[in-house]
Amino acid sequence: MAPRLLPVFPARLEQPCEVIADHARPGPRYTSYPPATQFSARFDPAVATRELTSIGADDDIALYAHVPFCSQLCWYCGCNVTATRDRSRGTAYVDVLLRELELLGDAFSGRPRVVDLALGGGSPNFLEIADLTRLLAGVRRHATITPHATLGIELDPRDTRPDQIDALAELGFRRVSVGVQDFDERVQTTIHRLQTAAMTRAVIDRARARGFDSVNVDLVYGLPGQTPQSIGRTLDEVVRLAPDRLAVFGYAHLPHLRPHQRLVERAAPVPGVAERIELLRVVMDKLADAAYVRVGLDHFARPGDPLARASVTGRLGRNFQGYVVHRTDRLIGVGASAISDTGHAYWQNHVDVEAWTEAVNAGHLPIARGVALERDDELRRYVIMRLMCEGRLEFAEVEARYGIAFTSAFSRELATLTREHADLATVDRTRGAISATPLGHHLIRNVAAVFDRYAESAASGSPSI
Ligand SMILES: C[S@@+](CC[C@H](N)C(=O)[O-])C[C@H]1O[C@@H](n2cnc3c(N)ncnc32)[C@H](O)[C@@H]1O
Ligand code: SF4
Repeated sequence: MAPRLLPVFPARLEQPCEVIADHARPGPRYTSYPPATQFSARFDPAVATRELTSIGADDDIALYAHVPFCSQLCWYCGCNVTATRDRSRGTAYVDVLLRELELLGDAFSGRPRVVDLALGGGSPNFLEIADLTRLLAGVRRHATITPHATLGIELDPRDTRPDQIDALAELGFRRVSVGVQDFDERVQTTIHRLQTAAMTRAVIDRARARGFDSVNVDLVYGLPGQTPQSIGRTLDEVVRLAPDRLAVFGYAHLPHLRPHQRLVERAAPVPGVAERIELLRVVMDKLADAAYVRVGLDHFARPGDPLARASVTGRLGRNFQGYVVHRTDRLIGVGASAISDTGHAYWQNHVDVEAWTEAVNAGHLPIARGVALERDDELRRYVIMRLMCEGRLEFAEVEARYGIAFTSAFSRELATLTREHADLATVDRTRGAISATPLGHHLIRNVAAVFDRYAESAASGSPSI
């Protein structure tokens, strides 16, 4: 019998703007549960050590290395980055990454298998080829990169040389994610990121010619200066680049945390909720017309792409990188600000490169904050992640996994969904399931928030559309 396929998130935004705006509430993006706002400096590093020690020979892990450097700062950027032209900082940084990998190697009780390796940032292309090579050799000293592991890297097309792409291919990288954001010149001027389509195509073509089999493009909607017409032209250009996947992020404007974002507001006002919805509507229509499948809330992929397949077979996962094909429950992050997630705890490294360096050089895991999950957190995390990935939840699945009676454990939440969120999710007690409505899929974070024990304290997150 053919496996039952899950329904996908609706490809288009059919609802009127006012209806969506009326329901949208700010909140976490649920790339983790508990949300990162609950990570605490009181987290006991011994918990992390215990978790790492439980990783033994032949256990599968995903490894993420954060490279926090870019050769110039984009004014909209919300990532943890330092802008510098001094490439020697990359070499010094990799020296510390190698020492951090040694600390991890000492903590593991055996040699794990890396099934997924991702370099993100910042812009990992900031690293010279020799440093990228040293980094991969360092990983191989403490873990086995399996023959079928996926190796991916984020590249800034404005700053990536052809010989770097060739070297990455030699090192086994087959996935690339390039930042585009917007191709409109006026918008690019406003956000301080000048990048032609030709520049972007050169990187993508080179990567494909060297054997990369997955190209992702990042876009941002809700940027100052964007109009439905301008973003439509950007999408036409992007579709011509024929990426395998796209991640389409709503602009997170948080100038109190990223003061450089004030430079963005000076040129043009930041679009409000209604304008954001209209921009997103154009993006989704263009991608649906080009036959991309919507994956979760904000990713899109060609129908045969592994991410698109995972979204219908129940193998979609969600972590700090966004939606991913779920290959393992353990994600280990190295580098400044990197987050690790073992299913039982999250911890984040020091964001500040100096503090991270100092801790590693002193021989400590460079942890700044984290959270150990209680059983209730683990249960809610499962519920929230299924909703975020599939827009639905079968009670029996949760009951089998956690040995609870769903309707009594979550009676308050089910009542809230029925009473206050009926437009967003239907609760079908006879079939033992929750399903997001078409509107609820677009506002799935609001549905998930009903199951979030910390929702009150986290209600000031980014806009939910
Ligand atoms: C690490 S960057 C990608 C690689 C490379 N640094 C580049 O920009 O080409 C990660 C992505 O985060 C997204 N991003 C950055 N700042 C953002 C913000 N304030 N709001 C929403 N998305 C943002 C952009 O789409 C960006 O491509
Ligand atoms: S968007 Fe990318 S290139 Fe621009 S500053 Fe942020 S991380 Fe660097």
